[in-house]
Amino acid sequence: MVVMTAIDFHAESNRGTYARRAADIGWADAMTAIVDPAGKRVADIGCGGGIYSQAWQTLGAADVVGVDFSARMVADARERSVGISGLAFRQGDAAATGLAPASRDIVFERALIHHLPGCEPAFAEAHRVLVPGGRLIVQDRTPADVELPGAPEHLRGWFFERFPRLLSIETGRRPSSETVEKALLMAGFHAIESRTLWEVRRTYTTVEELERDLSARTGRSILHALDDAELHDLIAYIRARIGAPPIVEKDRWTIWSATA
Ligand SMILES: C[S@@+](CC[C@H](N)C(=O)[O-])C[C@H]1O[C@@H](n2cnc3c(N)ncnc32)[C@H](O)[C@@H]1O
Repeated sequence: MVVMTAIDFHAESNRGTYARRAADIGWADAMTAIVDPAGKRVADIGCGGGIYSQAWQTLGAADVVGVDFSARMVADARERSVGISGLAFRQGDAAATGLAPASRDIVFERALIHHLPGCEPAFAEAHRVLVPGGRLIVQDRTPADVELPGAPEHLRGWFFERFPRLLSIETGRRPSSETVEKALLMAGFHAIESRTLWEVRRTYTTVEELERDLSARTGRSILHALDDAELHDLIAYIRARIGAPPIVEKDRWTIWSATA
């Protein structure tokens, strides 16, 4: 039995874990309601396997650079984007990206900040690399987002219903909206706005496809806090509640935008 406590983003075993989906059209609509990406220079910090770096390129950005502290993730992102122009990846920390000052029009940070000890250093770095007037977009789940109940389209709620200790881990690592907004102000941002988004994570055409995704803990760092027997139990719990395929899985996110 393998007992895991936290995801190791650098481990070879996590190859592909943040590279195997595509961004949903609803996400793209949410981004273009905030900024016009056409011709812009974008940095995707904590880019993982580059799903969203590629999405920004598809939305018309002129130049997208994905930054991640994990060599494994950067390699995944490069593999995924072979042959796509205007898209590059580099290894770097969210608080020290190595990007030139005032070199980006948009900085995007999705599902990054809950992995950091605090948001301020990453936000200060985003402010440094943005041109004056450039936009930072942060997407993450707050405690209020993660506490929403389980439902056939919101499978994550069932994770916490079945294993309440996961909810303590999750709410403990997720900053509140107030914390994020304060850190943005401290880093020098203004015109701070927030909104919520139910983003389609993935559509499964069979229950087996969903079970394979859950078994591999793909892109779900919280499941690394369950051992294999518990994960098996959770999958049975979800199977007993899920409707007929297709299964459209959604998560609720909070999206903050701020101007440098
Ligand atoms: C949950 S994944 C999200 C990946 C991607 N943004 C997405 O939404 O698909 C978090 C990513 O942040 C990266 N990360 C965590 N801490 C970091 C840090 N201090 N600096 C840079 N990247 C970091 C991890 O390696 C991982 O790829």
